[in-house]
Amino acid sequence: MSSPAIEVRDLRKSYGTHDAVRGIDFEVARGEVFGLLGPNGAGKTTTVEVLEGYRDRTSGEVSVLGFDPGTRPRELRSRVGIVLQAGGMYRFVTVREAVTHWARLYPHPRDVEEVIAVAGLQEKADARVRTLSGGQARRLDLALALVGDPELIFLDEPTTGFDPAARRAAWDTIRSLRDLGKTVLLTTHYLDEAQELADRVAIIKAGRILAIGRPAELGVGALTRARVTWRDEDGRVQEREVEDPTRLVHDLTAAALAHGGTVAELTVSRPSLEDVYLELTADAAADAPIPPVPARA
Ligand SMILES: Nc1ncnc2c1ncn2[C@@H]1O[C@H](COP(=O)(O)OP(=O)(O)OP(=O)(O)O)[C@@H](O)[C@H]1O
Ligand SMILES: [Mg+2]
Repeated sequence: MSSPAIEVRDLRKSYGTHDAVRGIDFEVARGEVFGLLGPNGAGKTTTVEVLEGYRDRTSGEVSVLGFDPGTRPRELRSRVGIVLQAGGMYRFVTVREAVTHWARLYPHPRDVEEVIAVAGLQEKADARVRTLSGGQARRLDLALALVGDPELIFLDEPTTGFDPAARRAAWDTIRSLRDLGKTVLLTTHYLDEAQELADRVAIIKAGRILAIGRPAELGVGALTRARVTWRDEDGRVQEREVEDPTRLVHDLTAAALAHGGTVAELTVSRPSLEDVYLELTADAAADAPIPPVPARA
């Protein structure tokens, strides 16, 4: 088996006296889409920037495609694509010029026109970058990350500011990257985005990982309980939370069928990633110490 695309061991980063990242561990397999979720200031961008080689770490071990990004290896730059949280490197050139210029930094770039089309910027190809709207500028950032045809792509909030149609288009792009076998590390505040795209997610808060796993698995524990709702014969909505809904659903449907009726508005649901996220990241005092939650690989 090939080694992981990314390995992080006890990574720590302090800005002066502020400990932004406080000892995190995770791995991203080759070909995996991995999501970092967490509230503002959790340490997501700091972590991503350390992996990109944009930021020095305070301590810990980090390997990206087998390299230490802290040594800024040349080869790594040509194999990695990046969408920074605050992009905007180009302002006075056109979209096409920016993408063309960026493509030249890579040994085997993709076709510039194709990438402009993938990012949905055909109509703006000749527009100066500074005239783009916020969402269009973000699309350009995505185009710049893709044009080098990198094998590993860092996307820090890639769809922030996108309208709903553009977000769906970006999701398709990210799925197509996965189909091509690329590795993607993305941060997002959109839980539906993480649930749609990520093979695994880590929920990070105040510089620590609270939980890690497949979006569907993360509810393991207090939040795995199923919620069963239905409307009873008196027209009242009933709701029960149970470990295993099999028995309850059987009893309800058996009783209804015995009278030739139906269970009105019967639903069985599991907590969404958003429920898990809100539960894990909620606390009474913002700076209260976070109890360790066992990470799941
Ligand atoms: N250059 C810097 N100098 C000092 N402190 C910084 C610097 N960059 C980030 N921080 C602090 O480190 C913490 C983590 O910031 P980071 O940007 O990694 O968070 P984030 O998870 O990406 O948040 P967001 O969701 O808002 O993008 C924050 O408290 C932030 O104020
Ligand atoms: Mg950030």
